[in-house]
Amino acid sequence: MVSRRRFIQELATATGAVVLVPAVSRCGGSTKPAAKAAAAPALQAPKLLPVPMVPTQDWDAVSFNRERGNQGAIPASYLPDINGDEGEAKHLGKHLPFVPGVSGSIVPSGYLAIMWGDPDKGHAPHPNAEPGPDNNNEGHWYNWIKVRKATTDPAAEVESSYSSWPVIGSEDSGAYAAPDGADPSDDGGRKTIYLAALPADVKPGDRVRIWAHCLTHGEYVDFLTLPA
Ligand SMILES: [Fe+2]
Repeated sequence: MVSRRRFIQELATATGAVVLVPAVSRCGGSTKPAAKAAAAPALQAPKLLPVPMVPTQDWDAVSFNRERGNQGAIPASYLPDINGDEGEAKHLGKHLPFVPGVSGSIVPSGYLAIMWGDPDKGHAPHPNAEPGPDNNNEGHWYNWIKVRKATTDPAAEVESSYSSWPVIGSEDSGAYAAPDGADPSDDGGRKTIYLAALPADVKPGDRVRIWAHCLTHGEYVDFLTLPA
């Protein structure tokens, strides 16, 4: 069961907002408010590294996401894994996007195919799971992906939603696919391809920023180049 304090912390993280906790006083059954009740502390959303519009000259997605994760973009319970000896390959790298080499026929026009954990970089593939005891009954998949052209000029950012897995919700703007002949739920969900909607102002070969949220493991940011 999620504790009230944890819920508030997660709410603050999810919304980026300051969550004010109401003071509750007990006065022997009286409903009169306590005159000198101590004000409950306001829990503030953590200060996070800003998400860059374009990659820095020495962009290192692992370093950036580790630093931002330790500031609060990644749940505290996952930080020992992120910061551990195998943190890059088995945890942080597992949450970084890459463009899988799949047949264009399974990618609708106006969408980008994304998977997480590039084996070519030695990163573990990201599993996906329905809600269950292993994931606090919240499920384990990416529930939103935001795509924006990597530019400091004004640009549209399009967010795709994924409210369920392995079958997309009827109101969702994202979609799932799988490599030829596979199902998104195969191999512990590691065959899931996320189809994320592209902004209208991008074209093949452009660089885009991917900013996404794993229900279990927090937010991650990286840049990808669209297939030519
Ligand atoms: Fe995850």
